[in-house]
Amino acid sequence: MVTEYVAMTEDRIDQAAIDHAGAILRAGGLVAFPTETVYGLGGDALNPESSRKIYAAKGRPSDNPLIVHICRLEDTEKIASFIPDIYYRLAEAFWPGPMTMILRKSSLVPPETTGGLDTVAIRFPVNKIAQALIRAEGGFIAAPSANRSGRPSPTLAQYCREDLDGRVEMIIDGGQVGIGVESTIVDLTEQRPTILRPGYITKEMLDRTIGEVDVDATILAGTSAQHPKAPGMKYRHYAPKGDLTIVEGRRDQVAAYINAALREAENKGHRTGVICTDETRALYRADSVKSAGTRRDEATIAHDLFRILREFDDEGIDIMYSENFDAAGIGMAVMNRLMKAAGHQIVTIHEDGSVTRTHPPKETLGRPEYREA
Ligand code: TXA
Ligand code: MG
Repeated sequence: MVTEYVAMTEDRIDQAAIDHAGAILRAGGLVAFPTETVYGLGGDALNPESSRKIYAAKGRPSDNPLIVHICRLEDTEKIASFIPDIYYRLAEAFWPGPMTMILRKSSLVPPETTGGLDTVAIRFPVNKIAQALIRAEGGFIAAPSANRSGRPSPTLAQYCREDLDGRVEMIIDGGQVGIGVESTIVDLTEQRPTILRPGYITKEMLDRTIGEVDVDATILAGTSAQHPKAPGMKYRHYAPKGDLTIVEGRRDQVAAYINAALREAENKGHRTGVICTDETRALYRADSVKSAGTRRDEATIAHDLFRILREFDDEGIDIMYSENFDAAGIGMAVMNRLMKAAGHQIVTIHEDGSVTRTHPPKETLGRPEYREA
């Protein structure tokens, strides 16, 4: 298939191109498009054949459910069988925006879209191009992130091209996304609302709106061996091609450890990379030293993390180290994605200078279903 490319901005929507994209979707085709979080790989959420195509284009296991994107709050009634009051309170506070809510699904949503679950994930994005596309499609676009399974989510249209050229009918270039990590997922089908995936809408923001919410225990767990409730969170994700290790501890000790490890890797002929911050970049020497942003504003780190992981791949970097970041606020999303990218390889430098190291649970990471997502 030959992929069509169109470009537009949120202030200057190309309505003819959007109408064409809407027709492609209604006919069962696939269109990659920008949202405020990451690019999405869209198909008609109510057409089982479209969902099958999405899994095939991504190379993704089909037990991993898709998010249904809407552009009118009232459309929820068509795809959910029960809507708790809390849904409307969260929608009022954070929609349109980077949050996804999980409800019991209606029979209109095919099991192919929800990975066989009887629940459905719903998101109302704020990006104007995404909204126009959903409207043109008729209201319900299923869209995972527009990357090949296992790769970092795309924050630029060029990354969609790298992963999906020839696999989708159209890619809409809407420039660089604003947020850079995927939406916060909140499950409303249990006793207490539970965050299944952290994102730009933080636990603190949710707590202030609806009272204390739970956080899925696997989000910042030390291994990937436990079973998270969002099926997609169990897979090895966002992985750069090389080997990434996170080092946590006191700043100066972290820098000394990483530099020593980099020298050793270089001596063995590896190309090396470091993920650090504006505050610490001068401390490092490597083939590629990348500041993800500033520790004064963790949102800057979320914004650039996936781009950096892809750039390391392009630069042929095969051994990488990252500093750890504060896991409060949006930092929870940053650390969650970083730990997945590192396959949970973490070195901890303790107060007394001793060092411990986690290893990825090889028995799970080696299995094919954990290699790709
Ligand atoms: O920001 C985002 O959410 C982006 C943009 C494109 O909207 N989309 C996105 O989709 O990140 P995806 O497919 O890459 O991630 C969806 C996550 C997966 O971890 C999946 O398992 C979980 O949502 N999920 C979807 N439906 C679910 C359900 N019914 N119950 C539990 N988890 C669900
Ligand atoms: Mg994804």
